[in-house]
Amino acid sequence: MCGIFGIVVEKEQPLGQILTEAGLRLSYRGYDSVGCATLQENGVIDLRKDVGKVDEVAARLRFAEMAGLRGITQLRWATFGAPSQINAQPHLDSDGDLVGAHNGNVVNNVALRQQFITEGMMVRSTNDGESCVHAVERYVDQGYDMVDAIRRAYHDLEGDYAFVIGRVGENRLYAFKKGSGLVAGLSEEFTCVSSDLPSILPLTRRILRVQDGEIVILRAGQVELRRVEDGSLVEREIEQVTESMEAAEKGGYSHFMLKEIHEQPGVAGELIHLLEASSHIAPMIERIAKARHLYLVGCGTSYHACMLGAVYLARLAGRAAIPVLAPQFIPQYGPALGPEDVGIFVSQSGETKDVLNALAVAREREMGILGLVNVLGSTLMNVSEYYLPLACGYEISVPATKTFTNQAVAFLYLALRMGGHSTEPLARLPNLLEETLALVEPQAAALEPVMAGQDDLYCLGYGLTYPIALEGALKLKEVTYAHCEGMLSTEFKHGPLSAVYEGYPVIFVAGPEDVSLLVSGINETTCRGGQAIVIGEENEQLRVNAHDLILLPSAGPLLNPLLATLPLQLLSYRLSLARGYDPDFPRNLSKTLTVD
Ligand code: G6P
Repeated sequence: MCGIFGIVVEKEQPLGQILTEAGLRLSYRGYDSVGCATLQENGVIDLRKDVGKVDEVAARLRFAEMAGLRGITQLRWATFGAPSQINAQPHLDSDGDLVGAHNGNVVNNVALRQQFITEGMMVRSTNDGESCVHAVERYVDQGYDMVDAIRRAYHDLEGDYAFVIGRVGENRLYAFKKGSGLVAGLSEEFTCVSSDLPSILPLTRRILRVQDGEIVILRAGQVELRRVEDGSLVEREIEQVTESMEAAEKGGYSHFMLKEIHEQPGVAGELIHLLEASSHIAPMIERIAKARHLYLVGCGTSYHACMLGAVYLARLAGRAAIPVLAPQFIPQYGPALGPEDVGIFVSQSGETKDVLNALAVAREREMGILGLVNVLGSTLMNVSEYYLPLACGYEISVPATKTFTNQAVAFLYLALRMGGHSTEPLARLPNLLEETLALVEPQAAALEPVMAGQDDLYCLGYGLTYPIALEGALKLKEVTYAHCEGMLSTEFKHGPLSAVYEGYPVIFVAGPEDVSLLVSGINETTCRGGQAIVIGEENEQLRVNAHDLILLPSAGPLLNPLLATLPLQLLSYRLSLARGYDPDFPRNLSKTLTVD
């Protein structure tokens, strides 16, 4: 999805450090390549960029020594054009007067590039960020001032993106967006703009959220918003953000992933508290109860929460729900959707493009739109009739951990309330999560030597633990780069059993109600030489039949899936480190995919 940041200061000064720090904060959005450009008073643009992570590239290209009145940095997650020096951003226009960078996806990039080449422009890369620069150049060359050139370029650029651009000989930066997020920050001495809020908050707490169809013009100490439509001024109050930044720091942990795993007892407790007081629960339940069909829509980890949510809703509230991967929602159910249907859209970021695409059609069909979302102010939150905040604070690590737990908690809470049950059992959850972490940490450590060299794994579950097995397999894949398939335990004998050989590790997530069934699966594997690693509550049958039993506190069938998630997260984290990877920023991945 990429990340952009731009800053304008009053007097020429070293900007490299500020840009690198902003880049580090944005690096969860993309880390294939990174670049910095500073625009100096003397009309020189210092542009440095290369393949690699921000800290490596910043040291190699000595970003720290870059000075100027204006600066732009960009972190890339490659979509258009391979990760390479030439495709890294920012990009220059043909004669090096303009410099700009984008995040998102310009979908007509290929056609635009061809037009620019035909028009005689110097097109250096295949990246769509460069097309944004040429789109503005085209109108600047025709004599339009920057605002008018951008207004025209805006209509030529199709897709979802945010873009920042500066021109030699001025004291301003310009930024605009379609679909993606864009936030401007202000102080007396500088102004800045970024793809997200956390990269701005260490610099200033006075912010303006830029909307689609607006151009933000940044001068040192002054921000102006203009409408793309007619160039007129937009009046918007400056927001003062009071939110703590502590949550975006590692707080003594070696990685965000580990910190976020350990935050789960706390954030689950906060969410339960918040749900007890939420005025959205009753109207949401009413919408869900009256729906003809209820769809639970998400991607990646959020989809696994939808799967678990569907089991909770059926079991506790007698409400059938259809969990569906967001990109499959339209092809599979499109023709059947109508105003009597309701969708619960689940997304940490609230900006995943696959989810927004599904949302757009759901809105067209006038479906009821409900949301479970972590990032407040996100597109999903804004279009939901009712939403529940996940209340997790920032989740920086690319693999989702605490947001999965709270998505599951939100579904469990809704299902309990809808079924007329007491939500009292949930009060035990924070302590149980805490106990689980203490219990499973040494157990995960003990398994590290057995599993670190394994490139091929299965993770099996049944009933309530089936979504947990899928989520565990996803975590293991994301951060260890090993192949790990999540599967319904009973399906294993229908094919993958053939892959089992002496010592082949298979993880079983055993819910307390399904022990006997799981034991059959365990034995089908172990009698063929497989090594059964079982996650479950204390149980004699499991003890006797498993090679390794990762013991969970007794919590009963409803809370057990939430606890069983933790050892899989911890194991993934440990194995990632053992294999020499960075679990916070796995290669090729991005926290929020704002592209198709
Ligand atoms: C990306 C992330 C996953 C996440 C998925 C959905 O693929 O790497 O960790 O689960 O997007 O994200 P969302 O923000 O919609 O929950």
